[in-house]
Amino acid sequence: MKLWLAIQLLTLRLSGASLAGAEQARLGAPEAEIPVARSKPNIVFIITDDQDLHLRSLDYLPYVKKHLIDQGLFYKRHYCTTALCCPSRVSLWTGKQAHNTNVTDVNPPYGGYPKFVKQGFNEAYLPVWLQNAGYNTYYTGKLFNAHTVENYNAPHVRGWTGSDFLLDPFTYMYLNATYQRNKDAPVSYEGQHSVDVLAEKALGFLDEAAEEDRPFFLAIAPVAPHSNVEIKNAGPNLNDVFDAEFTAPIPLKRHEHLFKDVKVPRTDNFNPDSPSGANWVRRLPQQSQENVDYNDHFYRQRLRTLQGVDELVDGVFQKLEEHDLLDNTYIFYTTDNGYHIGQHRLQPGKECGFEEDINIPLIVRGPGVPAGEVADVVTTHIDLAPTILDLVGAPIRADFDGDAIPLSKKGLQEAAKFRHEHVTVEYWGFAAAEGDYFDGSRITINNTYKALRIISKTYNFYYSVWCNNEHELYDLRTDPQQLKNLLHADEKAPENVLGLPLTKVVARLDSLLFVLKSCKGQTCVRPWQALHPAGNVQNLHDALAARFDDFYETQQKKVRYDRCELGQILDAEGPQFERDGLVYRHNARWDNWV
Ligand SMILES: *[C@@H]1O[C@H](CO)[C@@H](O)[C@H](O)[C@H]1NC(C)=O
Ligand SMILES: *[C@@H]1O[C@H](CO)[C@@H](O)[C@H](O)[C@H]1NC(C)=O
Ligand SMILES: *[C@@H]1O[C@H](CO)[C@@H](O)[C@H](O)[C@H]1NC(C)=O
Repeated sequence: MKLWLAIQLLTLRLSGASLAGAEQARLGAPEAEIPVARSKPNIVFIITDDQDLHLRSLDYLPYVKKHLIDQGLFYKRHYCTTALCCPSRVSLWTGKQAHNTNVTDVNPPYGGYPKFVKQGFNEAYLPVWLQNAGYNTYYTGKLFNAHTVENYNAPHVRGWTGSDFLLDPFTYMYLNATYQRNKDAPVSYEGQHSVDVLAEKALGFLDEAAEEDRPFFLAIAPVAPHSNVEIKNAGPNLNDVFDAEFTAPIPLKRHEHLFKDVKVPRTDNFNPDSPSGANWVRRLPQQSQENVDYNDHFYRQRLRTLQGVDELVDGVFQKLEEHDLLDNTYIFYTTDNGYHIGQHRLQPGKECGFEEDINIPLIVRGPGVPAGEVADVVTTHIDLAPTILDLVGAPIRADFDGDAIPLSKKGLQEAAKFRHEHVTVEYWGFAAAEGDYFDGSRITINNTYKALRIISKTYNFYYSVWCNNEHELYDLRTDPQQLKNLLHADEKAPENVLGLPLTKVVARLDSLLFVLKSCKGQTCVRPWQALHPAGNVQNLHDALAARFDDFYETQQKKVRYDRCELGQILDAEGPQFERDGLVYRHNARWDNWV
């Protein structure tokens, strides 16, 4: 018998019971009496699931606009580093690239909650460090994949003062979610909508947190606008996400009627006449009108489902005001990874390196954060754990692969001069087509690649190497839709890029990727330092100097794979910078090391 079938359907316990106490605290506490601990800021961290930036989902969220975009800072160049839920979330909460967490998939053996535990992160991730810094921590919603009704207590997730997690196999069932509170048994919410259930829980935790003397961190992780997923064959195949039906997300009844005429934005890369990209993407057939119509419906369902999140955001701000906490609280709004629908002929899904999948919403509002502004610094999910530790005054860990995100005007000005300009993008395993249309299998394997984004005032590239050793290069200044892969045999590549032969630019990008694909700690933040230890090269612009031509074009190892694997099997991934260390370094002073 399957265990979760035996779970008692406990009566729904509403978590708003503490309202009276919090109300009292609010009325009875004049400012002078606010405990010292309260001077540390609170943090509310809202993380949606699969929310796009490029398909313009933010345009349809009036409360997100009112409370966050208009009153906070929008980071238009924010990136996830692995475009898949579980690896991306583990990277976010640990401050490490997926190649350093080795949680690279949604399910074991390469990913999921069991892998997170096995890698030792249940004792070493953000909420644990926040508790050590004197914070109360709360979480509600989806934490990781493969966190199930069977394994939720073996062991329990650590680090949270209060928690109420969505559990597989019901995580993505909008109308039959299972939540699991603190150490209690899982509870099924059959017939209720997952996002409304979550809102109740989130606001309840906010009431609870407001009553305490300690500052708090509250994470709210609704499943919207992820596909509705029904795991068809649970039990022995519980870890087999492929045996599942992915359909359009299900909105709340009160939002079903919205956006009747809205369609996926018809950008140039939407279902294009000519194929684009590399590898399997380049072999996709153009979508039929019927398929496009369905995908437009899928898109509308996402926007409708997000309305529940939008209302939740309004609810959070009302509560913060009610408890008089708004002035001392930072609110983050982001998602785990982006999403594509029809771009490059792709069916609904993520897992690719295109902008739609990796460039995602990040908005921050709080004390000292410029209101209603847009930041163009390059930031990633790996930077969030350092940002939050910085904010609460806790020490930044030496093994972080990211760098705190500037939140103030002054910080942004300094960042404009010194901040890293790259994003390390990586992926292992499969890509899944969601929705009703796909050829044969919904799964494409060998979707394994290493990539980088690099952006400055004068350049803007995406460079990737796939596990079959195909290469991709897009010049996003001239090709923002990524339709022209300059390294594909069928494309006529320009002879010059940035006024230099293409090969010279590619040589630098490849060496940078070579360092980034296995970087650790500060090397991930300052990769040029690894190539030029004297510190005379800080960015791509510096590296392009002619005196380094020979160094990059003939002396460096190239990024390549020996074969495709579904996880991080190092001997399939060609030469390694870390393993072979200094051999690849070069600098005039240290010539004898080369
Ligand atoms: C809803 O989930 C419960 C377990 O949490 C399960 O027993 C029940 O069969 C599910 N109902 C439907 C309609 O899927
Ligand atoms: C995937 O890659 C492996 C190893 O590199 C190769 O043998 C296999 O043919 C590839 N499969 C597909 C479907 O491309
Ligand atoms: C990552 O995990 C997989 C699965 O356990 C393992 O086979 C692989 O060797 C690990 N890779 C690294 C670099 O630790």
